[in-house]
Amino acid sequence: MEKVVVSIGGSVLIPDSDDAVYIKKLADVLKEMSKEVQIAVVCGGGKIARYYTNTGRELGGTTHQLDMMGIFATRLNAELLRIALSDAAYSIVPHTVDEAVFAFSKGKMVVMGGTEPGHTTDAVAAMVASKIGCKRIVNATSVDAVYSEDPKKNKDAKRFTELSIKELGDIVYEEHDAGRSSVFDPLGVRIAMHDRIDIMIVDGRDLGEIKNAVLGKEIKGTRVISR
Ligand code: UTP
Repeated sequence: MEKVVVSIGGSVLIPDSDDAVYIKKLADVLKEMSKEVQIAVVCGGGKIARYYTNTGRELGGTTHQLDMMGIFATRLNAELLRIALSDAAYSIVPHTVDEAVFAFSKGKMVVMGGTEPGHTTDAVAAMVASKIGCKRIVNATSVDAVYSEDPKKNKDAKRFTELSIKELGDIVYEEHDAGRSSVFDPLGVRIAMHDRIDIMIVDGRDLGEIKNAVLGKEIKGTRVISR
């Protein structure tokens, strides 16, 4: 069975209104797709992570301490999705890539959050994909595609339907240097480039898009090709 890793942004999973409704719908779509592909889902931290990291920063927390709180938030979000998936998902949220690989080998869907400090859940998605030999990551995010610049700030920003992994690398390294949150974690891009993993960047609120991306069909978002 084909393997796909989905990286879902925390703000997508927990938009802060009708969260349970969205998570339930997402779980139903994931269950349906599981008949055709085996899926690992890596959940982001969103608002909950931001609350703890910002508050911890005000209290003088170290980067390591703030990252750890971010990781706890991602795992809380993952637990919500895992609850919604019930028996369709492995029974615990793995804490490391190795635990995720073991869980995945049992045949069910795997839902997790972060692993260790120093990167985001996009990078975790790339690490898991790399270890399980998966060739496609779906990044279900809060933007509908990759743009040359922030489309909220510049209406003329170019929207990409297809990019090579090198082109995505150039965009995220530049964003990273500018201190902007990248559309995909630069470390994740490096891993995907090395292991020739494609990345489908789609609007995570559009369940049809997630479905098409997971099943390898046409998408409205950005296809990032590594091969
Ligand atoms: P996210 O993956 O949600 O990162 O992890 P993000 O960049 O804030 O979210 P998006 O992608 O823009 O939605 C939240 C925080 O948790 C820590 C980091 O501090 C990260 O910013 N984290 C997460 C880790 O340190 N390690 C991990 O493996 C995952």
